[in-house]
Amino acid sequence: MCGIVGYVGFRDATDLLIEGLRRLEYRGYDSAGIAIHQGDRIECRKRAGRVQELEKLLESDPISGSVGIGHTRWATHGETTDVNSHPHVGGNGEVVIVHNGVIENYSTLRTKLQALGFVFRSQTDTEVVAHLLAHHVEEQLKLSDDAEGTEIYVRALEITISKLKGTYGIVAMFRDLPDVIIAARAGSPLVVGVGKGEYYVASDASPLVGYTDEVIYLQDHEMVVLTTTSIDLRHRDSGQLSPNIHTLDQVSTDTDLGDFEHYMLKEIFEQPQTIANAMRGRFNEDEATAVFGGLNLDPQQLRRIDRIVLTACGTSWHAGLVGEYLLEEFARVPTEVEYASELRYRNPPLEDNTMVFAITQSGETADTLAALRECKRKGHPTLAICNVVGSTIAREADGGIYLHAGPEVGVASTKAFTSQVTVLTLLALFFGRMRHLSYPAGKRMISRLKEMPEIIERTLKCNEVVEEISSRYSQFNNFLYLGRLYNFPVALEGALKLKEISYIHAEGYPAAEMKHGPIALVDEVTPSVFVIPRGGIYPKVMSNLEEVKARKGPVIAIACEGDTKVADLVDDVIFVPDVEDYLQPLVTSIPLQLLSYYIAVNRGCNVDRPRNLAKSVTVE
Ligand code: AGP
Ligand code: GLU
Repeated sequence: MCGIVGYVGFRDATDLLIEGLRRLEYRGYDSAGIAIHQGDRIECRKRAGRVQELEKLLESDPISGSVGIGHTRWATHGETTDVNSHPHVGGNGEVVIVHNGVIENYSTLRTKLQALGFVFRSQTDTEVVAHLLAHHVEEQLKLSDDAEGTEIYVRALEITISKLKGTYGIVAMFRDLPDVIIAARAGSPLVVGVGKGEYYVASDASPLVGYTDEVIYLQDHEMVVLTTTSIDLRHRDSGQLSPNIHTLDQVSTDTDLGDFEHYMLKEIFEQPQTIANAMRGRFNEDEATAVFGGLNLDPQQLRRIDRIVLTACGTSWHAGLVGEYLLEEFARVPTEVEYASELRYRNPPLEDNTMVFAITQSGETADTLAALRECKRKGHPTLAICNVVGSTIAREADGGIYLHAGPEVGVASTKAFTSQVTVLTLLALFFGRMRHLSYPAGKRMISRLKEMPEIIERTLKCNEVVEEISSRYSQFNNFLYLGRLYNFPVALEGALKLKEISYIHAEGYPAAEMKHGPIALVDEVTPSVFVIPRGGIYPKVMSNLEEVKARKGPVIAIACEGDTKVADLVDDVIFVPDVEDYLQPLVTSIPLQLLSYYIAVNRGCNVDRPRNLAKSVTVE
């Protein structure tokens, strides 16, 4: 995962890199480090922990210069220690690199380099690249008379990366090339910012905002050599290229916390607005359907689609499960939901008229990107349901639908989930109206959907009750989350939220599956959270609830306003507005988000930056 930022120009690189790392911290916050060229040597400062730890180090041990690279890490190989932090030094300081990705053959390379006399300081896979590069620089220098030439270093990097298996975004600096940084990518995103007398390179455009809006997105197997006055872009196979400069779409950095204590809570409370944003301009009332600007397929192509595959990870995968229920119910299109990490390698049979949607908040998730590419390569139309404008998946898909939810900062996804579900509901309406859904039914869906922002506002009134209830449940170590039909994915999502931010073990199940095994877990210290709104197969879920109560399991129920029957039976109840079955996930997921939030706060956990996680998972 990790965030990379690099700079060559005239500004103070230290300040710029630190600011960039702060903006990239959502990609990983295990450690942070920078390296700055000093003319005759490169100096590094790095620390385990947040960027602020690095800032403290820089206060006591400052460095400055106008050429440098920085990194914020999400560890894959080696613990989160100072020494494993990036940048990593190759040889005796001839080379310094930062790296995003995983080097799969690091162990073999490490053994070979050790045999050549290289001494390893860290446990990372990245250090292998640093030493290998130093080794090839040395080799190339021996073969050449022109010790100053940039070409030697480019060649050394080309040879180095030709020996790597895995994924990488690498930015390198060289002791003997004080005005140059070189970046190369295969599988991990890098973007170059073009300034006047300066260039930037970063994992995404966020560090560039406010400095330049001209960007070049590096493609796989491209390498770029940057000096203050020149850019030299090449591809491994096709050689030198002329850069394709894009104007940066507005990347919002509006991440003000306002009066909220945490981003997660702020984002939960934004949902009436973000759900409205996901629907804005997407209704065609006359035809009782939804409209999307960016699908890039004509009606005939869309009509021919006879199977939909939704692929995603984590919370976005849960939104996909809701999408499956919606698309099959309203559009009658057979739909499957695939974990992107499985789909990328699984090679299931996909018939000709299969359409693939990648669902992703960040648009950078490595597994989702790989699954999308694999399906695209096989010739299927690929579309993205994505929040981050201009992200890799948004750019690579054939078309797509943006969520317009604004930046989601909390690592635990909340508002993106409900926006994804909203967009999937619109898609079900859209495909439904092309097939089996009548005009009046379409009209009815539109009016129900339009009521949702106000209903979500009302749902959020449960906040105080949830906060109060949470104090009684914060000490438990195991939870079950149970729901059926549209509320089964909600149960999975509720359990994931609790696990992520409070580190409590939680499992989500279809409520009726419980009796096939998980019910063995039920006891006085294992609470079950039942998602049991009216409608659907309410009486059946009631029976499942009774089964838990009969075994003395404490129960929190998410039930419809006024449902005294449930209230009388359970230990605690959180009431939500009554909506039609297919809209329930939008409503019932909200108290579960709040419940996990307050339990995590009560346990003193870092809600917005939970341990071991990162907002955007850009490694496999
Ligand atoms: C959500 O709370 C998680 N942090 C995680 O499961 C996330 O949904 C997953 O990594 C997918 O991210 P994406 O939507 O940005 O692709
Ligand atoms: N594999 C490298 C490491 O563990 C880089 C991880 C990252 O992308 O942050 O240090």
